[in-house]
Amino acid sequence: MAEDGTDEDASFDDETAKGPTPVGVKLGSTRTILQFYDGDGDLETVRTLTCLATYEDALTGDERVLYGEQAAQEYPDSVEYMLRSGLPENDDGAELAKKFFSELVNANGLDGDSAVVYAIPTIDNEPGLRNLNRVIEESPVGDALVRSFPESLCGAIPAFGDELEAIDSVFAAINMGSTNLEASAYRHGEQLSPFVSGAVTGNEVDRRIANAVEEETQGRVNIDLTTAREYKEEHADFDDFEAFTDVIQQPGGGSHEFTIERSVMEPLDDYLDDAVDEVANNFLAQLANDHMKPYQLALSKPIVLTGGMACIPGIVEEFETRLSEELDRDVECIAADRPDLAPAEGARRIAERLAK
Ligand SMILES: Nc1ncnc2c1ncn2[C@@H]1O[C@H](COP(=O)(O)OP(=O)(O)OP(=O)(O)O)[C@@H](O)[C@H]1O
Ligand SMILES: [Mg+2]
Repeated sequence: MAEDGTDEDASFDDETAKGPTPVGVKLGSTRTILQFYDGDGDLETVRTLTCLATYEDALTGDERVLYGEQAAQEYPDSVEYMLRSGLPENDDGAELAKKFFSELVNANGLDGDSAVVYAIPTIDNEPGLRNLNRVIEESPVGDALVRSFPESLCGAIPAFGDELEAIDSVFAAINMGSTNLEASAYRHGEQLSPFVSGAVTGNEVDRRIANAVEEETQGRVNIDLTTAREYKEEHADFDDFEAFTDVIQQPGGGSHEFTIERSVMEPLDDYLDDAVDEVANNFLAQLANDHMKPYQLALSKPIVLTGGMACIPGIVEEFETRLSEELDRDVECIAADRPDLAPAEGARRIAERLAK
């Protein structure tokens, strides 16, 4: 079926209609991002929750699959986040991830005639990475080419310029995700001294926000982790956070309105201190030890922050200030416009280069 369509398109003088479609993919524990040029040459960026729900068709009894926001909203009790820990943990997780990814690429009209680059986490978890590889290799896309590169490298690419400047440089990148803090230096694309901490994470911030809300409201309000994540994503701001109010329904009827002043930014303040501490005293110390010259070079260049947590307004500047203090020298930090989408964008640019 793709054969006919491709032939027709080929008559247009359109870069993107020739050859396989370059696709960038980031399969994240919270969200998955796809980026590609569609048939009309428009850049498409798809951002969806990494989750899946199945139900039985009421008429035919067939199994139906839903993914993303729709699955999370309509089937909150049975929805599965199969990459919750960052990678598929077992065969079942890998099967679910395959199902999720197939649904996602089919819904977006992608087919085998594609060159796909995956931004993958740097994690010391062999079985998990093998499971992720299975998901990638058995996916319905990427007949022309399948490659994977570290998420923090892919995410740094849009921060450096409009092309692949990052691949030609020596620099350090820090990926601030939901399950990991990941840092690496890159020398012309080669990964040096990769560092991972599972202790400084977006998920941990969500847990602390939920606890802090309970304390701040004298035990009157209990929020779940999804609500805590939403408070963080909607209200966190290192430049000018504003107190906000929310309302809960009481079990016995009636509602209770409350105001949050401290419960979002205090956990984030700790998160940033912990992140700076890990980066300065573990990652950079190790890098200096392993590769003295690249370490010096990397610190004279901007350090790139990537990943969803880097979206918080003011976090890049605040990280820069605190890291400079900790290192006792001035360092510069930068991020892409959308650090959460950046890994998929960088991956898509690599796919374009490799497809040529
Ligand atoms: N706009 C935003 N403001 C604040 N936090 C955000 C925003 N967008 C995403 N996040 C947070 O960033 C984290 C997700 O980041 P990212 O998508 O990079 O992680 P991931 O790749 O799924 O996780 P990991 O790499 O740790 O497995 C979550 O904690 C999420 O709540
Ligand atoms: Mg990630």
